[in-house]
Amino acid sequence: MITVHTVAELRAAVLHARRAGKRIGLVPTMGNLHAGHAALVERIAEHADFVVASIFVNPLQFGPREDLATYPRTLPADQEKLLAAGCDLLFAPSVEQMYPNGADGQTRVSVPEVSEGLCGASRPGHFEGVATVVNKLFNMVQPDVAVFGQKDFQQLAVIRKMVADLNLPIEIIGAPTVRASDGLALSSRNGYLDERQRATAPALYRSMTRLADGLRAGNTDRAALLEQARTEQEASGLRVDYLEIREAAHLRAARPEDRKLVILAAAYLGSTRLIDNLTVELPPTG
Ligand code: PAF
Repeated sequence: MITVHTVAELRAAVLHARRAGKRIGLVPTMGNLHAGHAALVERIAEHADFVVASIFVNPLQFGPREDLATYPRTLPADQEKLLAAGCDLLFAPSVEQMYPNGADGQTRVSVPEVSEGLCGASRPGHFEGVATVVNKLFNMVQPDVAVFGQKDFQQLAVIRKMVADLNLPIEIIGAPTVRASDGLALSSRNGYLDERQRATAPALYRSMTRLADGLRAGNTDRAALLEQARTEQEASGLRVDYLEIREAAHLRAARPEDRKLVILAAAYLGSTRLIDNLTVELPPTG
């Protein structure tokens, strides 16, 4: 695996692979990699024969009171993990390389509707920052295929809509969430949790699993199921940010007749914000 830091080096390395007839796959990340990221690299390797990963802590997607300054930068350890997972090329640009005109001078990509509500409400501007950097990475790498974790369900929906709306010739793959043995979804931010918070954190997944089981068992009182899950979370020590049931394809408000649903949640433990989601497919009605 080689590591490059500039767009010119990146383009040269990708061109070399493309001229050799290779199908290019991209795994965008912000680093501080864990087993969930390794699974993304392994997944893209099933769809591409030259795997590019990027590590860039993107200032555009952090709010003014968020953890941009403290977000862990762990390049040497990340390089080892990417190599072991089968990555061919790592692009690790500086902020200046990505945003030579500064954040304020950067053209932005905004994806309407699907960016609104949920994390879009709690983190204003977040999805514009994500869509902008992912679009830039797509233009820099020009991959045939790219993979994103389903753990960031709304992000994946935003990227899918951006790709469709802008006619980008890129296949988008959603990879299943990787969980710890107690159910907690792996996330770079889990490292912020102290021992007590880490023990509490799986309560998020447990409450969502019970909610999903209730839906699958045919309970149609969604408001009551949500209220019960919310109560369980708060009783465990989580501070609920949002807990919603939406239809899974476009994240629109779920109607009683929708069969493909997704439960989406965000909750705080101290200052750490956890997100998770579970998809639920109900049998056809009638
Ligand atoms: O999911 C992430 O790690 C980031 O939001 C992404 C897609 C790499 C864009 O910065």
